Amino acid sequence: MSYQFILVEPRYEQHIALVQLNRPKELNALHLELMAEVRDALKSLDQDPEVRAIILTGNERAFAAGADIKQMAGKNAIDMLLIDQFSTWDTIKKIKKPIIAAVSGFALGGGNELVMHCDMVIASETAMFGQPEIKIGVMPGAGGTQRLTRNVGKVNAMEMVLTGKFINAQRAYELGLVNRVVPVELYLEEAVKLAREVVQLSPIAIKLAKEAVLKAYDSPLSEGLEFERKNFYMLFATEDQKEGMAAFVEKRAAEFKGR
Ligand code: HXC
Repeated sequence: MSYQFILVEPRYEQHIALVQLNRPKELNALHLELMAEVRDALKSLDQDPEVRAIILTGNERAFAAGADIKQMAGKNAIDMLLIDQFSTWDTIKKIKKPIIAAVSGFALGGGNELVMHCDMVIASETAMFGQPEIKIGVMPGAGGTQRLTRNVGKVNAMEMVLTGKFINAQRAYELGLVNRVVPVELYLEEAVKLAREVVQLSPIAIKLAKEAVLKAYDSPLSEGLEFERKNFYMLFATEDQKEGMAAFVEKRAAEFKGR
């Protein structure tokens, strides 16, 4: 597939794919065309058996400065409803392989919401996170009020959403929005290191474990626990479980096949 607004390297490293948002002049503003490409790329990588983890990144200045304000400015409520951009986001939400965000510079509005669609986040020390929609007379629409609140708690989410103020990478780390903060020259490398750890493991166990962790977002504890248990049992039907446990007993490295 060829893309205009993103760069995609399905074989960035063994089992690791890289998707880079690429509208640098517009600070990677997420217009509909770019988001459709992100959706298509992630879907295709999700179905690619060679890929076990995906890194989503921008550039040093911006991960993404939000939805494209110029594209939205003249729209009315019906236009927005008919465009139905959130079906694109719903598809991204359903990607089964782990996605690691490598964030530098601005991650604002839809940009921060896209980060929160990822499973782990490496931030450069220059990263800035925020939900500034309130400053342009709207509010978050791609999960910002919900995911942010679950991630950082009510008062912190309220402060970000109601003032539009940005937080820096260190504060994002303290609030649990990112896994770690590294010098700017290392953020992509650190994301790759994290991906390397993940891709050595059983891809099928990783998939079911990701699904179970995400279940914690939208189900009561008892339902989530049931779901976890079913996925746990299901893994005992895989060759990877046999291999993983045999390798432990035989004191050797496991070779996982994803079956
Ligand atoms: C369209 C954008 C943009 C955006 C930046 N640009 N952000 N264009 N949509 N979200 C463009 C600018 O217009 C400018 O283009 C170029 O990128 C560089 O930006 P500057 O503003 O000149 O850079 P700087 O002074 O460094 O300021 C950076 C910034 C600022 C603080 C990030 O650009 C900013 O406040 N951007 C908007 C952030 C925002 O409000 N995001 C939320 C959007 S709403 P020109 O052509 O003028 O040089 C949203 C809703 C999500 O995300 C709903 C669900 C999808």
